[in-house]
Amino acid sequence: MAIQYQREKRIFTLHTEHTTYQMKVDDFGFLLHLYYGGKISGDMDYLLTYYDRGFSGNPFDVGSNRTYSMDVQPQEYPGMGTGDFRSSALIIHNTDESDCCDLRYVKHEIKDGKYALEGLPAVYAAQGEAQTLEILLEDPVSKVQVLLLYGVLEKDDIITRSVKIRNCSTGSVTVEKAASACLDFVAGDFDLISFCGRHTMERNLQRREIGYGSYVTGSRRGTSSHQHNPGVILAGRDTTEDYGSCYGVLFVYSGNFMCETEKDQFGQTRVLMGLQSDLFHYPLAPGEALTVPETILSYSGSGLSVLSQQFHQCIRDHICRGKYKSQPRPVLINSWEAAYFDFNGETICRLAQEAAELGIDMVVMDDGWFGKREDDNSGLGDWQVNERKLGCTLGEMVERINGLGVKFGIWIEPEMVSEDSSLYREHPDWALRIPGRKPVRCRNQLVLDFSRKEVRDFIFEKICAVLDQGNIEYVKWDMNRSIADVYSMENSQGKVSYEYVLGVYDFLERLLQKYPDILIEGCSGGGGRFDAGMMYYTPQIWCSDNTDAIDRTRIQYGTSFFYPVSTVGSHVSAVPNHQTGRSVSLCTRGVVAMAGTFGYELDPGKLSDAEKEEIRKQVRQYKEYAPMIQSGKYYRLSNPFEDAYAAWMFVSEGGDRALLNVVMLEIHGNMAVSYVKPRGLKAGCVYEDRADGRRYSGAALMEAGLPMPVAQGEYLAYQIELIVCP
Ligand code: GLA
Repeated sequence: MAIQYQREKRIFTLHTEHTTYQMKVDDFGFLLHLYYGGKISGDMDYLLTYYDRGFSGNPFDVGSNRTYSMDVQPQEYPGMGTGDFRSSALIIHNTDESDCCDLRYVKHEIKDGKYALEGLPAVYAAQGEAQTLEILLEDPVSKVQVLLLYGVLEKDDIITRSVKIRNCSTGSVTVEKAASACLDFVAGDFDLISFCGRHTMERNLQRREIGYGSYVTGSRRGTSSHQHNPGVILAGRDTTEDYGSCYGVLFVYSGNFMCETEKDQFGQTRVLMGLQSDLFHYPLAPGEALTVPETILSYSGSGLSVLSQQFHQCIRDHICRGKYKSQPRPVLINSWEAAYFDFNGETICRLAQEAAELGIDMVVMDDGWFGKREDDNSGLGDWQVNERKLGCTLGEMVERINGLGVKFGIWIEPEMVSEDSSLYREHPDWALRIPGRKPVRCRNQLVLDFSRKEVRDFIFEKICAVLDQGNIEYVKWDMNRSIADVYSMENSQGKVSYEYVLGVYDFLERLLQKYPDILIEGCSGGGGRFDAGMMYYTPQIWCSDNTDAIDRTRIQYGTSFFYPVSTVGSHVSAVPNHQTGRSVSLCTRGVVAMAGTFGYELDPGKLSDAEKEEIRKQVRQYKEYAPMIQSGKYYRLSNPFEDAYAAWMFVSEGGDRALLNVVMLEIHGNMAVSYVKPRGLKAGCVYEDRADGRRYSGAALMEAGLPMPVAQGEYLAYQIELIVCP
């Protein structure tokens, strides 16, 4: 049993294969956190200490005991106004105008299977793979009830948390802040690893010491954002890729979020992950409830690689869904960097023809095929095929492409509207905007109010009408701006950001139900909504609008800490690269794009015969490696922000086969040799380099490394396939 309850001591223990999580209901009904870390047995309530702490108040019910204070006790879900002056997981504005929520234990239930969240993405598991613990807490005065949900996936070393807040009083209350998970550590010095960036340079790793006070990251952009990813790692100061303890905290949500880390007066650390409190005042009428999206927790006692692998497996097996969940993804060619808006039906068919000759599976017609859309200033919202531009109907074009043996995919951006569009002229009130103010424009477009069902229904119908026109097997779902004007003509204002995201999820769910065989790739100006919430609907996401292979080594490195390679949209593009002007070899571009779903974003018509031959070889190779790349174990072998090379590897289940990838980032005269150390091999086995037949012991490779050639030229790349010798 993954979840155990000791009745006499009121202790809950959640065990996974290698970890333990423990909490306790104390004599006053407070739910205290006892332990999270490597697997242990026994009761950890001995860790709780009681001293008279000046200026840390004592709950009334503890009487004259001055040693008991919520300001010091580790808690599962701390509310505001209980004498805990650290950051709260929950702030409720009550009917009487007070901001207090004093939560006490009411009851609990242990269930088989993993809980689901209505309208929200969440980890799912088959019967027998997971258990759920529900703990009901209540504020006896305000009658606000909080249901804490814990999901335990024993084999995966995953614990999930979510929260349902219900107003059981007779008056209205407002939720001002709601976290989905709180982790309190009574001791320990930690580093916080977070992933920050910007458009075309997402998820740069930042590692900083958690010092006294608070450090807050998050998003107020309506999406999870390019700027801060909703996943953080708490690592011991000496934790490395293969040594030390670390905790991953990943929010399964695609909108505004807030992650706080706080070191308190006694050096105790609190981590909160949940909804962003800015732009959020969620009113609950009597009987109404709010579900706080899920947080996935995982712990590794043996370094960051194992932690990442645990998240990869969880996302691959328990978040991603649909036909393509564990199937090799189609290798595709996308029209965006090949032609931008400058295409017609012939251009797309020509790309398909080239694709057929190169072994590429699918052609994707990106932005520009609908309404009045010759550039990015108009047309969004008018989801009618521009047949004049295509020179035929969409159905005819898809048929022609399918006739070449190539699949067809299409780009959409359903959440947006251009002011210069029929949709906006007819329904200006469907855009999010604040009455009496001019809206904030971004890429010259506004955002539709997806918190409103009628708006979603209208767009859904239009998009379906397009998808029904032919054999469309892939959709790229884009979202190209941040949301600034948070005001809905229909919804209560403090709800809009949250309801908007639920609206997007609702739309995607309906699309998946109606078209279960369509592969949807998420996108938000590249990786602006690269989160586990979207992965529940879109098993792959365009990782970045930056296709420069060298920048991509860093973007994909940061992305890999939480997200599996099977979710990373990555393409080979033309040189000089359109974002950086840098030129690197086709080989290097191929090696980097293979750490993802793989495809092309260029016009093959502009390539030489030799380059086309190389592409043919790349596609063949990728298809051969795809099972290992998409579901093997992933190891980071260098830090491309610091090291002279970027290196990573994929190891097949069982360790018999591995693919080592290296991109040299520096070149100097009389260059020192780089020895790259593979990991995850079987120490006692001999491996053969498939290209040159040379043999090495697994232990030797992992202990001493493999020397990379010293060769002239910038950004050379190597891909070495190692196979166990019988
Ligand atoms: C975004 C996407 C690109 C492309 C354009 C089209 O920037 O990230 O890949 O689809 O939109 O406008």
